[in-house]
Amino acid sequence: MNYLGLDEGQTAKVSKELNTLLSCYHVYYQNLRSFHWHVEGQNFFDMHNLFEEMYNDAKIKIDEIAERILTIRYKPISTLSAYLKYSKVEEAKAELSDQEMIDTVLENHKQIIHCMRDTLQVASESKDEGTIDLIAGFLADLEKRSWMLDAWSSKKFKMEMA
Ligand SMILES: [Fe+2]
Repeated sequence: MNYLGLDEGQTAKVSKELNTLLSCYHVYYQNLRSFHWHVEGQNFFDMHNLFEEMYNDAKIKIDEIAERILTIRYKPISTLSAYLKYSKVEEAKAELSDQEMIDTVLENHKQIIHCMRDTLQVASESKDEGTIDLIAGFLADLEKRSWMLDAWSSKKFKMEMA
């Protein structure tokens, strides 16, 4: 039943974008878990806790994206093989320095933000305000997190130069 009153052809396009975003988020989530386990060095306690906080946040967003897909009456992708196939975010290596982990997370954010903008574009063409509202909030949150991670990297750089 089309209880949302949205154009079904357009909604199919929105669900495709949301499934790509869902795939990106799953690979990103697993990257964060890997970094939580493998980070070493002087920043261990900060980074270990930071990655845990971030993957817990990603977990909530994953569920919201999947349930938005269901709300517009499509099926969320739910297998790891499909996530790897459709994700624009790549699996990260475990053996990285803390700085390389932050750089990787920032790169992952860039890919996810790109997917979010694509989703917002298609949702806008579909007059799907519910998806726009959800994803725009996630986008602003990820941008803010990227600023903080970049600030952490910059501070370290200045200390090294002093
Ligand atoms: Fe843990």
